[in-house]
Amino acid sequence: MQVKKIRIDKFLVHIGYGSRSEVHKLIKEKRVTLNDKIIHKPDMHLIIEESKVCVDGGQAVYQEFYYYVLNKPQGVITATEDKRYRTVMDLLLPIDQRKSLAPVGRLDKDTEGLLILTNDGKLTHELLSPKKHVDKVYYAKIRGMITLQDVKQFEEGIILEDGTSYRSSKLEILHAGDISEIYVTISEGKFHQVKRMVMSVGKEVIYLKRIKMGALELPEDLNIGEYRQLTELELKLLKGEKQGDRTL
Ligand code: URA
Repeated sequence: MQVKKIRIDKFLVHIGYGSRSEVHKLIKEKRVTLNDKIIHKPDMHLIIEESKVCVDGGQAVYQEFYYYVLNKPQGVITATEDKRYRTVMDLLLPIDQRKSLAPVGRLDKDTEGLLILTNDGKLTHELLSPKKHVDKVYYAKIRGMITLQDVKQFEEGIILEDGTSYRSSKLEILHAGDISEIYVTISEGKFHQVKRMVMSVGKEVIYLKRIKMGALELPEDLNIGEYRQLTELELKLLKGEKQGDRTL
């Protein structure tokens, strides 16, 4: 096994204890211990697997990659920072805000639901790459009567007047009425895709929520605005290493 050494200041910055200078201050104030001994030098190296690092007595546990799932509420934008609007990052605890996480893909400001936040750039790329065809399932309420003709249209693919084209997608009708309810499964992630596809068949999305990405469903224990780390099983489902046991 490869032994992984890292400077203590880098270790603490990665976990989210602050910027390099903030971490240096913690060390200067004698608040950091390594294997129960106070650390004096920020350039001290440690072996990740064999070291117990504490800050103010609480253990600082290192993970190379972090994977969080957020149940995104309406009203926040999917970005890491913005001058005008609150972002999904503002929903995280300060220690998690400093972990260099980024959202995987984008949900509109008024869209709710499953959003992954990670510092694993390779996985992000794989989940978003058009070549990988990772399915995303949305629940939508729409104004207008959804029809079997719409189902057929979604299946055939859609080309908008401006030339934007959408591959074949699955439209399932949950309820057809003045306000209809549907599931839409798409493998791309184009700008306002579900809203624009629905608009192309003459209806309007009035509520949109992402409920599934790959084989990972939005966890039922997560209320709107809440987030937590993915379990190992959930991460496998997201990576496509395991199949979910029910289909939506
Ligand atoms: N499609 C949309 O129109 N909006 C989203 O936020 C996601 C998919």
